[in-house]
Amino acid sequence: MSKRGFFIVFEGVDGGGKSTQIKLLTEYLEEKGYDVEHHMEPTHGQIGNLLWNYMRSKNRSFTPETEALLFAADRIEHGNIIKEALNEGKAVISDRYLHSSLAYQGAAGVDAAWMKKLNKHALKPDLVILLDIDPDESLERVQDRARTVFEENEYLKKVRSEYLSYAENGELVVIDACRAIDQVHAEILTYVSKLF
Ligand code: TYD
Repeated sequence: MSKRGFFIVFEGVDGGGKSTQIKLLTEYLEEKGYDVEHHMEPTHGQIGNLLWNYMRSKNRSFTPETEALLFAADRIEHGNIIKEALNEGKAVISDRYLHSSLAYQGAAGVDAAWMKKLNKHALKPDLVILLDIDPDESLERVQDRARTVFEENEYLKKVRSEYLSYAENGELVVIDACRAIDQVHAEILTYVSKLF
């Protein structure tokens, strides 16, 4: 029987080092013999592209509820692509998934129970890793990059606390992202190795 793949999600406010850690984890998994696929949300499908255009505009003009609906629709489409990869025994790593909606749209006042209902059919990840960082520090790290409509300090503080609230019921694991890259990577591996 071929081996079953697994689905890992990285979450956190911008500037927490998601891309670096995804790259290191990919190298590790490839050394273990896994075929690794990188995904992200928003995706680059039709709905995802609409969201990217929206986020790069200067104006947060949709209601947060509309945002939640669009992200959920993008996620449903994304689910089919993830399933295909898992069925082929691949490891899928996604840069953001459901908890981005719960945290970002939740911080804008959208009801969490409603979002969970909307996302009821979304594929469940095997592991969700929150790279936790204080937005004061993370915005400093990303200051040279183009910002999205969501990157504003006070708002990101709320986003962070929404994220942390999902650690309490075990939906995600929290990793302190303020430390050296290799320390963060080593801690990530302690969780990932439980999936083998
Ligand atoms: P980000 O991951 O920061 O990409 P980049 O570093 O290329 O700018 O941008 C994605 C943004 O999308 C981020 O600000 C959070 C937002 N987002 C939501 O608000 N809700 C969601 O459900 C998802 C998936 C993303």
